[in-house]
Amino acid sequence: MAAAGGSSCGTRKHFGVSWWVTVSVAVLLLGLLEAEGQCFLNRTKEHCVCYNLSQESMRSIIQCLPACVVEFQGGDLERYILLPISDPDPSIIEMLNSLLVRKIIFGDLLVPEILLARVLRFLSYTKVEELVIENCIFEGRGNWDEMIGQHLPVLSLSFHNVTSVPLMGRQRDLSHLSVWLGTLQDLAITGSHVTSLPCAVGRVFRALRSLDMAQNSLEDESLMPAFCEGAFPRLRLLSLRRNNLTSYHNVCKSLRLLPELQHLDLSQNKLLADPSSSCQWPASLQIFNLSDTSLVEVLTPLPPSLEVLDMSCNHLHTVDISLSSLRRLFLSQNALRAAPSIQNYPMLDTLHLDNNSITELLWDEVKLLERLRDVTVASNPFNCSCSGAGALQALAARGHLGQGWPQVYTCVSPPRYQGWTVQEVPVLALRCNRAAVIAPLCIALLLLGVAGVLCLVRSRPGLVRHCHRA
Ligand SMILES: *[C@@H]1O[C@H](CO)[C@@H](O)[C@H](O)[C@H]1NC(C)=O
Ligand SMILES: *[C@@H]1O[C@H](CO)[C@@H](O)[C@H](O)[C@H]1NC(C)=O
Ligand SMILES: *[C@@H]1O[C@H](CO)[C@@H](O)[C@H](O)[C@H]1NC(C)=O
Ligand SMILES: *[C@@H]1O[C@H](CO)[C@@H](O)[C@H](O)[C@H]1NC(C)=O
Ligand SMILES: *[C@@H]1O[C@H](CO)[C@@H](O)[C@H](O)[C@H]1NC(C)=O
Ligand SMILES: *[C@@H]1O[C@H](CO)[C@@H](O)[C@H](O)[C@H]1NC(C)=O
Repeated sequence: MAAAGGSSCGTRKHFGVSWWVTVSVAVLLLGLLEAEGQCFLNRTKEHCVCYNLSQESMRSIIQCLPACVVEFQGGDLERYILLPISDPDPSIIEMLNSLLVRKIIFGDLLVPEILLARVLRFLSYTKVEELVIENCIFEGRGNWDEMIGQHLPVLSLSFHNVTSVPLMGRQRDLSHLSVWLGTLQDLAITGSHVTSLPCAVGRVFRALRSLDMAQNSLEDESLMPAFCEGAFPRLRLLSLRRNNLTSYHNVCKSLRLLPELQHLDLSQNKLLADPSSSCQWPASLQIFNLSDTSLVEVLTPLPPSLEVLDMSCNHLHTVDISLSSLRRLFLSQNALRAAPSIQNYPMLDTLHLDNNSITELLWDEVKLLERLRDVTVASNPFNCSCSGAGALQALAARGHLGQGWPQVYTCVSPPRYQGWTVQEVPVLALRCNRAAVIAPLCIALLLLGVAGVLCLVRSRPGLVRHCHRA
């Protein structure tokens, strides 16, 4: 897409040269100027990156006018703390309003918190919907008084690898920001050593749909208050990936007050489970990620409307559950000796079983097999008997076998085919069928024949004699 207009991210107004000066003023006010640096615009991506922007290279930010995404990397904003900030005059407000930028990324910066509050105030005059702050160190305490009652267009806010997230755990600051935070839809605070989320925090985020808390230090005890009555009432997606959670049942109990939760990611926690206690996950849950959680069995009950279950990278020996809505089941990297019975999952279309101890697929429900669109069974110790290899080759022939076929499907037995790929084993479907179907048929016919002859001999004794005579 030619990007001269750069209009795909929103409505566009014409910029005259006179705006440039105004933009420069705005930039100064935003306090984004530091050491030597420059901005680079990628027109195809409508993405502009400014490195260590300085007063000398400030004009360079004009390049970013057509960009939807503007990124500021590197620098120390400390010296802008004292910059006087009054309400911008109407011409600057109009200019900010007509900027195309929808997403701003701040990276590798030392940010005085007081400046963050001011930047936010400025954003209220723009159409910026997404704010990302990564690898930043926040300093001091901000003054959020000016934000009281402020609306912001920002719907998505994410902090990654920051020291002390400014908004967390401060009742007073939160109440000043509550008009805005009450409309926020997506919040991510990842890789930032967060150990708790007070109850009051969750109650401010009245419209939040997704909360990503991956790679922090949350423990079981911090979950109950975090998801207290009235906290995050609209939450649909919650990621607690890679925290310090330790009990399957405690986590379950802590999340039972999230009535709209659809997607829960608990992967990469070491969850111990006490099979004798049981707990009901929110019934609205559709996607459940329990990958890499050290589980030795599938714990029930699971939510009945579950559509996606990821239990890869655990220590499962068997999977013996039924889920009538399940569409995708991930069981790679376990210790399964047999594939689960697909009869138990009438809606299943994706099944991953790589890196288990499965020797043979024993599925004969042909009608159900037709529905499976994506099956992977790579890196298993296959028994390449006629039926074993035949079942896999048949799946592959229908185009149902995904990644890894044929290279990572190798035979471990019988000795004759050890080290061969399953694909190389000479199995004609007919031959397997002959063994399976034709042999019993022959025996049956033979028995029938013998019985018939015996009957004949008994009912007409003369016949034999007659034959002899002839
Ligand atoms: C802009 O981004 C596209 C897509 O990532 C890339 O192929 C292209 O090389 C970039 N252009 C410049 C000038 O960096
Ligand atoms: C996290 O941010 C700090 C600066 O605040 C940086 O030095 C460090 O390299 C970052 N860590 C990662 C993993 O990116
Ligand atoms: C969380 O777990 C990590 C690694 O498992 C550990 O280094 C860290 O100290 C733990 N944090 C807390 C707060 O216990
Ligand atoms: C589950 O989480 C892991 C990361 O821990 C990720 O690689 C995997 O794709 C997730 N599974 C699903 C179904 O989203
Ligand atoms: C199987 O396990 C090996 C070793 O742990 C790993 O390198 C490989 O990526 C895994 N393959 C699949 C398909 O999961
Ligand atoms: C492989 O399968 C064949 C036929 O089902 C069976 O007779 C044989 O014992 C199996 N071998 C191993 C090692 O499981």
